[in-house]
Amino acid sequence: MIKQAIIPLAGLGTRLLPLTSVIQKELLPLNGKPNLEYIMEECVEAGIKQFIFIVPKNRPTIKNYFFNDSFYKRLIKKKKKDKKLKEIFRRIKKYQKMIKFVYQNKPDGTGAAVLKCKKYLKDKHFLMLLADDLIIKKNCSKEMISLHKKTKGSIIATRKVERRTVSRWGILGVKDKKKHSFSINEVIEKPKLKEAPSNYAIIGRYILPKKILSVLKNQKKGKGGEIHITDAIKTLIERGEKFYGNIFRGKYLDSGTLESYIKSNLIISKL
Ligand code: G1P
Repeated sequence: MIKQAIIPLAGLGTRLLPLTSVIQKELLPLNGKPNLEYIMEECVEAGIKQFIFIVPKNRPTIKNYFFNDSFYKRLIKKKKKDKKLKEIFRRIKKYQKMIKFVYQNKPDGTGAAVLKCKKYLKDKHFLMLLADDLIIKKNCSKEMISLHKKTKGSIIATRKVERRTVSRWGILGVKDKKKHSFSINEVIEKPKLKEAPSNYAIIGRYILPKKILSVLKNQKKGKGGEIHITDAIKTLIERGEKFYGNIFRGKYLDSGTLESYIKSNLIISKL
């Protein structure tokens, strides 16, 4: 069973400056609710019981967002009849019991983030989500968990991207393609066009085996001086570990740049 979800939240969000100089990118609102909450809703619906948030110790915004009881209590006391306020507080409270914080003080990559969770990971597999990749209309985590149950392997969410953009993504090598899945025989982080084995890109959701931790422990820094999860996945595939691509049915909304964030807001507000 997949019960734990890791969410790395230590990125600097430089593509969304100046907004991210005061608010963490995962808390930027999409139609009145932060990205992060959409992702958490998806997880809860897919059966996740615990979230491990990887945050920098000196940036308390996420902690403040979920653990601000005294603020709500004060407000509720003043506005006793405000039903909406109570409902929001209830929503936030529900998450408090599910969140565990782990600290990553320098943004040295998704692989380094996963490594920080070592002592909390209980089961053989866990889910990892990148909080600026939103997938709406169909629950992608649920699809991935069901593919994991069927194959017993590790799973990566994927979709086709325009060929000329491959160097912006982690790209997968495709074997035995079916309608909504395939076997992954290769993975490269942000390849040049001529190195890309396909145009199926990794989209921010992974079901990974706990054994990836021992690979990460000995992994050298990759592109941009960071420890990339993609490089550890590559090692596991080379060692014969089974990985499958889940070609998700939902709609992908990128919120990583100002332009895509505005676009995503417009789409979500029309749903
Ligand atoms: C990360 C991953 C990359 C993936 C992308 C979208 O890159 O490293 O493999 O394709 O997210 O989910 P980033 O957007 O952080 O540059």
